Amino acid sequence: MSSIKPSRVISNTGAILLGVMGDPIVHSKSPVMHTAALKALGIAGNYVPLHVKPEGLESAIQAVRSLGFRGVNVTIPHKVEVMKYLDNIDEGAARVGAVNTIVNNDGVLTGYNTDGIGYVRSLKEEACPKLQGLEIVVLGAGGAARGIIHALTAEQPGQISVVNRTASKAIELAREWSFLADIRGLSETEAKEAVRSADVLINTTSVGMHPHVNELPVSEDWIPSGIVVSDLIYNPLKTKFLQISAARGCTTHGGLGMFVNQGAYALEYWTGQAAPVEIMKEAVLHSFTS
Ligand code: ATR
Repeated sequence: MSSIKPSRVISNTGAILLGVMGDPIVHSKSPVMHTAALKALGIAGNYVPLHVKPEGLESAIQAVRSLGFRGVNVTIPHKVEVMKYLDNIDEGAARVGAVNTIVNNDGVLTGYNTDGIGYVRSLKEEACPKLQGLEIVVLGAGGAARGIIHALTAEQPGQISVVNRTASKAIELAREWSFLADIRGLSETEAKEAVRSADVLINTTSVGMHPHVNELPVSEDWIPSGIVVSDLIYNPLKTKFLQISAARGCTTHGGLGMFVNQGAYALEYWTGQAAPVEIMKEAVLHSFTS
């Protein structure tokens, strides 16, 4: 789905500078994850947390050029705003309307969105190898949902149903991308029938996230037994939604894989090398417990 691919490949002899810009940034797991990855690949370099406030974003992006960063990740609250400071935007990122990865090719900055493709890669690897022809229900229609739904449309699903508390957002999103897949927007009151016939059920809302760990995004008895149930939340690592789904015989998939794989794609864009995904995941898990 990404049309522009980074053209310059870094050899493992030169040191590269990478980082993540956000506000706040202190809790980001990206530095620990990418530092472990660089080490495993034998690439000399550093991946640093960069605390960038909104009013400093434009000059921070200029500094990517002047300081010779090979690339940066961009996180909350800059994913949309940053687009206007870049030279090129990948087609997928433009459609999603957000950038989380920037590649610097000799001063020319290109923005990508690896969140959705990272999610789908982890869903396929960990829970559901083939999505073709399946009925997929996505709960939520916010920024995270947009990236995921866009990446899902590339997998030839049977139908994607987007359910949202604010139904108009789901309906509008379905209309916008109707040329990519069979996709419909539904209100929460219309959701029951769609959820009951789902093959894959994905929660992209914040319902169930720490500290509200006992909340569920849909009624327990709507969840069909034996389907694939996925939750973007990774704090807690296994939400109540996933615990209940597992007890109903479902295959479950948590949010950690998405985080790791969005980073894996970014690293591959920057270095041209296959990312050590297991080592990256271990580094993040270790940082939760240390
Ligand atoms: P993100 O980038 O994490 O997707 P977002 O763009 O703010 O964040 O979107 C949050 C999504 O979670 C939205 O779909 C939101 O529904 P609304 O569009 O109606 O606001 C959904 N959401 C958040 N809290 C929710 C709740 N308590 N119940 C149902 N949906 C909720």
